[in-house]
Amino acid sequence: MNKIITKCYAQRHNVFPVEYLDELRSQILSCSYLAASQLSHNFTGTKGFSVIFKRSGIGEVEQHFPMFKPYLQVALKQACNAFYLNPLVLEGGTRVEPHVDCSISSYDMTFTIPNLVSVLYIQVPQDLQGGELVLQAGEHQVGIIEPRTNILLYFRGDLVHSVNEVKSSQPRISLICEQYNLSATRLEHIPEFEIKSAQKPRF
Ligand SMILES: [Fe+2]
Repeated sequence: MNKIITKCYAQRHNVFPVEYLDELRSQILSCSYLAASQLSHNFTGTKGFSVIFKRSGIGEVEQHFPMFKPYLQVALKQACNAFYLNPLVLEGGTRVEPHVDCSISSYDMTFTIPNLVSVLYIQVPQDLQGGELVLQAGEHQVGIIEPRTNILLYFRGDLVHSVNEVKSSQPRISLICEQYNLSATRLEHIPEFEIKSAQKPRF
């Protein structure tokens, strides 16, 4: 069992300075793009927005969202060339239903799963009950991750995953990046840099 778990996910603790996480939290919560998640019905009641980019568009992402720069520098895998980044805010009473990540599939209508998914836990409330990330390979549960602030988690892109209902006085905030390694042909359909939000930005 342990062998399977090791292959399915990995996590690092205390990855960033606490000050960076505080800054990231406040920037995400005050970001004009933050709105009801537009990811899918599996995310009903949650908040977020998406930033889609190719490796060649990273500079543009960092220019538009300087707050993401340290995360991108640490979390992005060299082997990947297309990314779907999602800050995700789960308030009390919300949950994420089981799904496989495939957000980038909408660009050329070809079902595609990421090579891996990275998750940074930015804020995990002290009084949090629930909110665990449950990982499944087929019918088998291969991991149940209790979120802790400042853990950077990677899990295999083909895993079905869900988040148990969050019960807490403050939101549980994470920064998720679906990381893809696409062929040159598929990559042509992906924008250099695009923002998707249910909210029209306030300027
Ligand atoms: Fe997901």
